[in-house]
Amino acid sequence: MVENFNDESLVREFEAVFGTAPDGLWQAPGRVNLIGEHTDYNEGFVLPFAIDKVARVAVRRRDDNVIRLLSTYGDQGVTQAPLDGLEPGEAHGWTKYPLGVVWALQQRGINVPGFDLLLDSTVPLGAGLSSSHAIECATITALNDLTGAGLTAEEMVLTTQRAENDFVGAPTGIMDQSASLRGAEGHAVFLDCRDQHVELVPFEASPAGLVMLVIDTKVAHSHADGGYASRRAACEEGARVMGVPALRDLDVSALDEAQSKLDDVTFRRVRHVVTENDRVLRTVEKLRAEGPTAIGALLDASHVSMRDDFEISCPELDLAVDTARSNGAIGSRMTGGGFGGAAIALTPAGEEEKVRTAVVQAFAEAGFTLPDIFTVTPAAGAQRNR
Ligand code: GLA
Repeated sequence: MVENFNDESLVREFEAVFGTAPDGLWQAPGRVNLIGEHTDYNEGFVLPFAIDKVARVAVRRRDDNVIRLLSTYGDQGVTQAPLDGLEPGEAHGWTKYPLGVVWALQQRGINVPGFDLLLDSTVPLGAGLSSSHAIECATITALNDLTGAGLTAEEMVLTTQRAENDFVGAPTGIMDQSASLRGAEGHAVFLDCRDQHVELVPFEASPAGLVMLVIDTKVAHSHADGGYASRRAACEEGARVMGVPALRDLDVSALDEAQSKLDDVTFRRVRHVVTENDRVLRTVEKLRAEGPTAIGALLDASHVSMRDDFEISCPELDLAVDTARSNGAIGSRMTGGGFGGAAIALTPAGEEEKVRTAVVQAFAEAGFTLPDIFTVTPAAGAQRNR
């Protein structure tokens, strides 16, 4: 485990590696999705929040056409890439995220200069907390400043989505980068993925006597694998058969008709998305009217829908959720794209240790790799630190 740098030591490290001081330091957070899973690419609603774990990049412009990248992950030395001729599919490891951002900016006609970049991140890798989007969002925030491109948050969201979809090769939506770029301390980001309209909804566990636990199952997942893409394809097929532009345009009253027109699997994929959109809206209402203690049942129902209808959970996630629930959590669900990654458990502050102990014990008994369990709080979105 590499020890993370603070701003000061990251600058010193940059100087040691690249020989000069960086022009600045930028950071972007990972995210937890409170509710609204696989609704983003169906033009629906999501309710993620930025977390207090960030990717930070120290960056300096160069006056030639070279990009040099180094991270504190310790898995790759300095990667050098030419500014011209970046091709999707050719970058490796974490470098495909910053290089994807450069490529997507170039596709927009933005003239990106050569630069040196040093990355340090506290977002756990592969835990379903959007470590990759945190890197992309930190990079685009830095390059937007350094080039004076003046992109809005909405434009940066679409540009990083292009990097993910067409450079990295993951057919993902806009939720993760919206949370990372547009999050705010003490708030969840209620995002309409059709028009990118955002409302910040107060969400703080601690004043309500709760903590938000993340249970990282350590089961690796990748959205560039087939499971994510096949769910997306089923949703598109469902919308086509139902004659709507996107599943966002169906509400729960359309489900009977959908069942009569669709095969069983496609219907269940559609039912997940349609009911999940509804759960997001109801969660927002409950948060506003009653606060976080009122949303537990909606989190639970979301998990059941993902487990049974969308079929994107796995035994480790189900065990984490069930064990958290039966040991005091008021609501629990897997979060993120699925097939591994993390679950969240909204837990009374006094029950936190009980839940931790029970989940670790249940994993040990099942012979699963032991999970990492930690708390997160809703934090600020991407910013320049210096
Ligand atoms: C991943 C994708 C997001 C979203 C979620 C599922 O995190 O990056 O765009 O589709 O899965 O809700």
